[in-house]
Amino acid sequence: MSTTTVSTPVLEARDVSVHFGGIKAVEGVTLRLEPGLIHGIIGPNGSGKSTLIGAITRLTPLTHGELLFAGEPYQGTRASAMAGLGVARTFQTVRLLPDLNVRDNIQLGADARLGEVEQLPWHRRLRPTESPAVAEAIRRTGLDGWEDYFPSELSYGTQRRVEIARAIAMDPRLLLLDEPTAGMNQSERAEISRLLRDLRDEGLCQLLVEHDVQMMLDTCDYVFAMNFGKLIAEGTPAAVVQDPLVQEAYLGRKGRHNA
Ligand SMILES: Nc1ncnc2c1ncn2[C@@H]1O[C@H](COP(=O)(O)OP(=O)(O)OP(=O)(O)O)[C@@H](O)[C@H]1O
Ligand SMILES: [Mg+2]
Repeated sequence: MSTTTVSTPVLEARDVSVHFGGIKAVEGVTLRLEPGLIHGIIGPNGSGKSTLIGAITRLTPLTHGELLFAGEPYQGTRASAMAGLGVARTFQTVRLLPDLNVRDNIQLGADARLGEVEQLPWHRRLRPTESPAVAEAIRRTGLDGWEDYFPSELSYGTQRRVEIARAIAMDPRLLLLDEPTAGMNQSERAEISRLLRDLRDEGLCQLLVEHDVQMMLDTCDYVFAMNFGKLIAEGTPAAVVQDPLVQEAYLGRKGRHNA
């Protein structure tokens, strides 16, 4: 009897490409997201990180390739049904409903309606009590005391925490975070890093996009690097940031910006 166990990845992308006309935003990306690990994606601006998350969450149509969740192809699944599969995400730009307070925005996650946020009526009937998943998400993201505030009354960093709370209130099997700590200070970032690692220790598979290299080194178990839509390196965070191709990708872009 074999003692080797090969675990099924939570998510697999096979040779995935997304083109916008002539722009090859994602080109031939193959990756596996393993259970109980925090995966990171780094890469210069415009390298295709958000487009890849859009493809994985079915918001952006694939030009080519295959997507599998827990070993099953899911290309036919609509973006609005991804919550039902157990896939939660936060967006690069905050997408909270302005007419709902913090508690009700987070309740949307618990209702597994994240994919339908844009279709919800503005004046959704409010619940008399919040569900336990919402109370737990509020506690874990340090939002106690902010429950009755509306998004416009919150700092950008706090709005981002509400987004994260909404995603974890869904109790997902896979959490995708696109620059969740943008607009946060160093100590707020450290708190989010701690939260993501706690969720990882509870078994939650994650994919995190961040520009802050220190945050990636502190948080991720495994990192993918992208440039011009392609994967150029993968491995431990420390090895990937040292990779000559990765260093060149950042320096090359910087040089061009400065030119
Ligand atoms: N809807 C779209 N239509 C046309 N081009 C797009 C679209 N979305 C993204 N792109 C282009 O695809 C490329 C990859 O963009 P993407 O937003 O995925 O990069 P990114 O790595 O997330 O960048 P950043 O770090 O700035 O967030 C860019 O050239 C971008 O202009
Ligand atoms: Mg992006």
